[in-house]
Amino acid sequence: MGIGTAAQEEDFASVLLTEAQIGERVEALAREIAAQYADKHPLLIGVLKGSIVFLADLMRRLDIPLEIDLICASSYGGGSETSGTVTLLKDLSQDIRGRHVLVVEDIVDTGTTLRCLLDLLQERSPASLGIVALLSKPDRRRAHIDIDFLGFEIPDEFVVGYGLDFAEKYRYLPYLAVLKPEAYALAGDDNTP
Ligand code: IMP
Repeated sequence: MGIGTAAQEEDFASVLLTEAQIGERVEALAREIAAQYADKHPLLIGVLKGSIVFLADLMRRLDIPLEIDLICASSYGGGSETSGTVTLLKDLSQDIRGRHVLVVEDIVDTGTTLRCLLDLLQERSPASLGIVALLSKPDRRRAHIDIDFLGFEIPDEFVVGYGLDFAEKYRYLPYLAVLKPEAYALAGDDNTP
């Protein structure tokens, strides 16, 4: 498989996961989640923007009654490292008290953003609070996070595609690619390692 247009290929070191590999894993995750949440009418909370592709694929494979909502939080205060305080850029549109909530994340990196978000959601008294993450970079973890349903553990490399961006680029790609360090070193973006 080619890895995109000539301009993209210059920025990518390799394809980390193909569309087929991601699809297979999402299918398996959906089966696991459906088995555990069949009678719980879960509320899936997608964390914007990175999780939208994963959420869309996952929910269409979950053959159980469910609802979705979206939240947008940022723990990056303009520097290259997470700040440890979360800014809510878009809140949920409903009360989660008594609901079985599953937070759907694209990637858990240091875990700072998700830790802050989980603490905030926990204060709203859901019946349960679980985590579904497509990707995890365990080598970078700083906050303790128990991921209940994980797609893939990946090495400490910056990845794009399947919803994940670099400076808002590449989210639309159906596969995941590793960005060359030169590509983000030059741009000096604020959510790179
Ligand atoms: P954390 O607070 O360090 O766990 O940051 C999590 C957020 O950083 C994710 O939701 C992504 O938006 C972003 N992020 C971390 N690693 C990557 C990556 O490799 N590619 C794209 N975005 C990333």
